[in-house]
Amino acid sequence: MAVPRRSTNSSTPSTSPSSSTSGWPAPLQRALLSRAAKPVVWLLWLAPLAWLVWAVLSDNLGANPAEALIRGTGDWALRALWLALAVTPLRQGLQLTALARLRRLLGLFAFFYAVLHLVCYAWLDQGWAWADMAADVLQRPFILVGMLTFLLLLTLAATSPHAVLRWLGGARWKRLHRTVYAAALLALLHFYWMRSGKNDQAEVVVYATLLVLLLGARWWRRAGR
Ligand code: HEM
Repeated sequence: MAVPRRSTNSSTPSTSPSSSTSGWPAPLQRALLSRAAKPVVWLLWLAPLAWLVWAVLSDNLGANPAEALIRGTGDWALRALWLALAVTPLRQGLQLTALARLRRLLGLFAFFYAVLHLVCYAWLDQGWAWADMAADVLQRPFILVGMLTFLLLLTLAATSPHAVLRWLGGARWKRLHRTVYAAALLALLHFYWMRSGKNDQAEVVVYATLLVLLLGARWWRRAGR
């Protein structure tokens, strides 16, 4: 989820932020390079959690609070994952090299909300009954796909520190972190499968379209090199 620094003879684009961006993105680039950028991202991405906690305490989660919590945390995990995937195309398209600073943090927020999602499911839906949960994984394919997605995100989060990057070596680390696209496809399948039981695919189509655009941007860039 973090982005490797460029070695001097590498063909991968530089991710070390510089303030040399010109034109209208320049002020944005300066803002992203400022010391406030990361704390602002922290605040923005903790706000959904704060809202959910407030909604629990004030009994504002509707008729089925457990379902609202499971769905709410799943939604935010998906949003953070999509945003983390959008960082590279936006960085390259808008020449906003400083965006690279935020990619790892966004990826970790996707994992954070996925952990909350899993905790809500295990606690509120299954009452920590491990045998029931194992049976659920086998009975409902969308739960199995959710678990696989979670395991991929866990691997990416565990290998995101720079020390692990150095230990694995840049090339191997990059190969491993490309599995973020597999995680996104699995997350989309989980979402699609869950929603198909409810005949409600409008949001799934939006996420699928965005993912096609993100993957298309990546493919276009590679083909152009
Ligand atoms: C850890 C394993 C996972 C389990 C056990 C799990 C379980 C569930 C369950 C029980 C639901 C709600 C079903 C319902 O209300 O009928 C759900 C919905 C959802 N999950 Fe997961 N999930 C997992 C992983 C993930 C991951 C990793 C993501 C995203 C990165 C994700 C995203 C979603 C989304 C977006 C929804 C639908 C929310 C909505 O309808 O608004 N899930 N999941």
